[in-house]
Order: sequence, then structure tokens, then C-alpha cells
Amino acid sequence: MLRHYLLAAAIAFVFLGGSSGDSPAAVSCRSFCGNITVDYPLGLRRGCGHPVFRDLLFCVNGALMLLLPSGTYLALAIDYPYKALTLHDAAMSTCATAGTGVAAGFVVDPWRAPFLSPSPDTTFLLLGCRSRRRHLPCGDVAGMGCEGYRHCPAWHAATPCCAVSYATVGAVNLSQLECEGYSGAYSLAPLRPGPATGWSYGVRLSYSVPAEHEEACRRCEASGGACGHEPAPPWGRLCLCGAWNSTSSCDSGERNREMPAP
Ligand SMILES: *[C@@H]1O[C@H](CO)[C@@H](O)[C@H](O)[C@H]1NC(C)=O
Ligand SMILES: *[C@@H]1O[C@H](CO)[C@@H](O)[C@H](O)[C@H]1NC(C)=O
Ligand SMILES: *[C@@H]1O[C@H](CO)[C@@H](O)[C@H](O)[C@H]1NC(C)=O
Repeated sequence: MLRHYLLAAAIAFVFLGGSSGDSPAAVSCRSFCGNITVDYPLGLRRGCGHPVFRDLLFCVNGALMLLLPSGTYLALAIDYPYKALTLHDAAMSTCATAGTGVAAGFVVDPWRAPFLSPSPDTTFLLLGCRSRRRHLPCGDVAGMGCEGYRHCPAWHAATPCCAVSYATVGAVNLSQLECEGYSGAYSLAPLRPGPATGWSYGVRLSYSVPAEHEEACRRCEASGGACGHEPAPPWGRLCLCGAWNSTSSCDSGERNREMPAP
């Protein structure tokens, strides 16, 4: 129902935009996967969204998947006002379950990391790590740590545990850190999180793009275009205007063909 309503609203918007502006119809990069809306700076379709998030999200049978070097994660929600994605990893341990299969951890492509990184209020609990090679400063993150997790039914209190933020550890690579598994929990409320049984398990991933790109995208959208990028290297940012692409906006004054007519 909601989806139909949104679709109707989108169509109405296109027609209203078309009648008031000089562009024949607004181009859109907005997509839906299940009940999740994917929109700028993220994108599902080829050439849509900011180039730094290209080849990141995929829709598989109505499930939104996020692909990272450490594996594929299920995206449960996208919070546009807070610029965050909520992810689920079935291989991750939670208070109630030990996780399924072999957990790889959580590693973001280094080139994406300045724009996409677990939020500072996500705690990673590194479980059963043998290696003492790297001295990690373990400690509570956003009020969540090993002390609380120790009482969980799925956890053996004698096994080593180290709570870190992603910024501290750099990459949660379990084979490199020589850990048996991991858990992740995030805190949204400003209140101190309660017992570990009630934590939100998963990873809260924050995204951002440079402010001047946001501004350029608003100009592009105001001219009836959709913010995207070249479909191949060097992945330059484009304003998609339908039959043609512009490097700035779809207003005729700034018309700037990317590809010369044959
Ligand atoms: C999306 O669907 C899932 C399951 O179908 C549901 O749990 C979730 O609450 C829904 N989210 C929204 C924002 O409607
Ligand atoms: C415009 O850019 C999109 C996204 O990269 C691309 O798929 C499309 O082929 C381009 N269109 C033209 C006319 O160059
Ligand atoms: C994790 O570390 C191992 C060993 O250093 C390395 O081979 C592997 O590529 C790393 N995985 C990721 C996803 O970075």
C-alpha cells in the first residue's frame, strides 16, 4: 500500500515538475528493493548515485544486499536524515546465538572508507582472538562492551573478548586478527544501553559525500536531472538528463554533452 502511494506520489511529482519546468520529464534514479527506498547518494541502477557508492548495493529477490571485501551483508534499513545504513550479518554472534557459518568480520574497501564506515556508536566485539601480536586498546564503545556481553547465553565467559570501535581497529578482519568470531551492536538512543540481551545487533554504517557534491546534486535535481556517474572509469559525476548527460545540470545554459554525437 505504502509503496503504491509512494509510486503515485513520484508520478505526480514528475508531472508537476514537468509542467512547471522546461524539462519534458524529470529523470529519477530512485529505486525500491523490498520496502527499502534507494536514493542519492546511494544507487541500485548502473550509473546512479555518487560514484563512491557504485557496485555496493544489490537487490536480490527483494532483499537489499551490501557488498564489501569481507562479504555480503543484508541491509535492513537506510536512514537518509542520519545518513546511515543498518546491516545484518548472519555469521555474526549475538547475545542469543553464536552465528551461522564462518564469520569473516567487517572490512570496508579502503578507497570507500573515508565516505563509508561503521558509525562511532557501533561496537565490535572481537571474540576468541588468539593473537596478541597487535595490541588493541579494548574498551566499551557507546556504553557497550565485553563486561555486559559476558552474561549472554551464547557466550562462554572464559573466551577472550575485546570491544573496539571500527576507527580503533581499522578493519575487522577476523583471519588477520586470529579471532573465532565477532559481534557488533549499535546504540541509537542517547541513553546508556541496558543489558546485552536487549542490544541492537548488527552494524550501523555511516555514509557521506563532500558538501560541494551535495550542492551540485541539488542543482542537478532542481533542473529535472538525477545525480549519477559515468558507467566506467574514471567514474566522473554526471547529471543524468534522460537523452543526454551533463557534468553540471540539465538547464540548457549549462548543457555540456559528455559524449559527442556520432
Ligand atoms: C520492511 O519489511 C520488513 C519485513 O518484510 C519489516 O520487518 C520492516 O519493518 C519493514 N520496514 C519498513 C520501514 O516498513
Ligand atoms: C548517461 O549516463 C548514464 C549513467 O552512467 C549512462 O548509462 C548513459 O548511457 C549515459 N547516456 C548518454 C547519452 O551518454
Ligand atoms: C584479511 O586478512 C588476510 C590475511 O592478512 C588477507 O589475506 C585478506 O585478504 C584480508 N581480508 C580482507 C577482506 O581484507
